[in-house]
Amino acid sequence: ASIEKGGYDHFMLKEIYEQPKSIGDTLRGRLLPEQGLIQMDGVYQFQEKLLNAQRIIIIGCGTSWHAGLVAEYIFEELARIPVEVEYASEFRYRNPVITERDVVIAISQSGETADTLAAIKLAKERGATIFGICNVVGSSIARETHAGAYTHAGPEIGVASTKAFTAQVAVLNLIAIKLAHKKGLLKESYYHRLLNELNEIPRKIEDMLKSDAQSRYIAELYKDAPNFLYLGRGYNFPVALEGALKLKEISYIHAEGYPAAEMKHGPIALIDENMPVVVIAPKSGQYDKIVSNIQEVKAREGKVIAIVNDGDSEIAKMADHVIEVKDTMEVFSPLLTTIPLQLLSYHIAVMRGCNVDQPRNLAKSVTVE
Ligand code: G6P
Repeated sequence: ASIEKGGYDHFMLKEIYEQPKSIGDTLRGRLLPEQGLIQMDGVYQFQEKLLNAQRIIIIGCGTSWHAGLVAEYIFEELARIPVEVEYASEFRYRNPVITERDVVIAISQSGETADTLAAIKLAKERGATIFGICNVVGSSIARETHAGAYTHAGPEIGVASTKAFTAQVAVLNLIAIKLAHKKGLLKESYYHRLLNELNEIPRKIEDMLKSDAQSRYIAELYKDAPNFLYLGRGYNFPVALEGALKLKEISYIHAEGYPAAEMKHGPIALIDENMPVVVIAPKSGQYDKIVSNIQEVKAREGKVIAIVNDGDSEIAKMADHVIEVKDTMEVFSPLLTTIPLQLLSYHIAVMRGCNVDQPRNLAKSVTVE
C-alpha cells in the first residue's frame, strides 16, 4: 500500500503533490504557447455550438460544482457568454428552461455521479448539446455526452478531490481562452500572455509545494477549532467554498465558505476570538475590498489566516498568519490559491486522527441518488 502511495502517508497527500504533473498532463498537447495555439479535439468538433451558445449551463456535484463556479467567472470575463452553474440534483428536478442554443457543460471526476448523469439525460431530451469534462476515460458520463475533454489528471483515490479539481479548472481555462480568442475578444498580446502564464502554472505549484511548513504550523494551532469560515471574492469565492468543503469532508470540522462581502449579512455575527477565518486574498481587482473585509474580521477579534501573494506586506501586518502563493494572472488564481487550502485541511485531519483517504459517510463516487 505504501508503494501505491508513492512514499506518501496518504493518497490525498500524494495527489496534492502530483498537481504540477497532473496539470501538466491536462495541458500537454493542448496548450501550445510557442505556436500561439490551443488545440482541443472535443472543442473543435463542437466549436460552432460553443461560439454561438446563447448561454452555457454548467452542472456538477460537490467539488466538480465548485470548478463550475470558477468557470462561470472565467467564461463570462473572457468569452462573454452568460453562464449558469447548477447542482445537477436541483437542475434535474426543476423543469429547467433549455433551448437548442444552450450548451450544457457537465463536470464529473468519476463520470458516474447519478444526479449528473440524470441531469445530462434531461438536458439532452430538451435539445441541448452536452459537453463533458470527466477524469475517468470511458465513464458513463463521458459516453452520454456529445463531445468533451478529459482532464487527464490520472486516477484519484482519495475521496476528497484535489488534483481532479485543479485539472477541471485548467481544462475550463483552456476552453474559455480558446473561445474568447475565436470570438476576437482578446488582444493578441493578452492572448499570448494568457497562454504563457497558464503554461507556467505547474512550475509555480511545484515551487509552492517545496514547503508545507506554514500550513502545518497553522494546522497545529487551529486543529481543535469547532468552526472555520472561508472568505473570498471573485475568482476566489469558489475557492473559499472548496476550501471549506475540503475541511468538512476530512476533518469533520464545521466550515462555511462565503463571498467576503456577504459576511456582513450573517456570518459576521459568529466572529469572535475563537473563530479562524481563512481569507483568500491574492492581488486582484478586489484587493482593497478584501483588505477591508480582513479589517472587519480583526475588529471582532477573529483569527485571520490569509492566503496572499509572495511578499505581500500590507495584509501580513493585519492577519494573524499568512500563507504565500505565487503571483499569477487573476483568471488563473484559483489554480494556485487552492493548493494551501488542500494542505491545511489535510494536516488538520491527520492531526485529529481522521481517516483522510476514506472519510466517514462519504463515497468517492455517488452512483445512487
Ligand atoms: C462525491 C465525492 C466528491 C465529488 C462529488 C462529485 O461526493 O466525494 O469528491 O466532488 O462526489 O463527483 P464527480 O465524480 O461527479 O466529480
